[in-house]
Amino acid sequence: MARARFVTFTKGTSSVAPEAALKSTPEVSALWRAVEVGHLVREDVLPHSGTGLDLGCGDGRVTRLVRDELGARWTLTGLDPDELELELATSAGIYDVLLRADGGDVEAADESFDFVFSHIVFQHLPRKAYVEAYFRDAFRLLAPGGIFRVQVDGRSRQFFRRWVADSWSGVVFSARELSRRLERCGFRVVETRGSGTQYLRATAVKPG
Ligand SMILES: C[S@@+](CC[C@H](N)C(=O)[O-])C[C@H]1O[C@@H](n2cnc3c(N)ncnc32)[C@H](O)[C@@H]1O
Repeated sequence: MARARFVTFTKGTSSVAPEAALKSTPEVSALWRAVEVGHLVREDVLPHSGTGLDLGCGDGRVTRLVRDELGARWTLTGLDPDELELELATSAGIYDVLLRADGGDVEAADESFDFVFSHIVFQHLPRKAYVEAYFRDAFRLLAPGGIFRVQVDGRSRQFFRRWVADSWSGVVFSARELSRRLERCGFRVVETRGSGTQYLRATAVKPG
């Protein structure tokens, strides 16, 4: 596969640094990956072919595991604000295009993706407005009938998070609020899972 192309644009909503600590040992990293990748594979909500956008792709290892487990064949774009992660993502060998960005208005053509997904990213963002900006982008970028699969932190009873939300302990959503925000952007929510947990997931469709 050809080396992925980099496109750089940033808007200053990034939240990058602290997760480096969690990747400090291979064992810790492997444990997190096993937990995180399980949802995506078991629920099998991503198409097995088509053109996809991985929002907050990181180093691409989780996505590569998911792709391999599903036996999927994708044309894939990865987006992340962190240059180091993007370098690692290049080595992962699964992305056709890599975009450097940390805010809305993703520089890609309208309706150019069959699916968009985001995993373990929005739980680190400090403002719901930043998350919703990505929801609007996902809607714009998806072709009619396209699938948006999103994970956020669903521990909405942790009321203190309203005041401490930062670039590590980011914002939290109830399942109801997540659905409402997705619908407000035009999506039809097919299902939510993991309500009340760190892994609140929604699958939504762009009507068409
Ligand atoms: C825990 S990693 C998860 C990476 C990947 N999705 C995975 O499951 O392995 C979180 C990623 O979110 C990225 N990130 C942080 N702020 C972001 C933003 N504003 N927009 C997009 N990605 C962001 C980080 O650089 C990091 O690569």
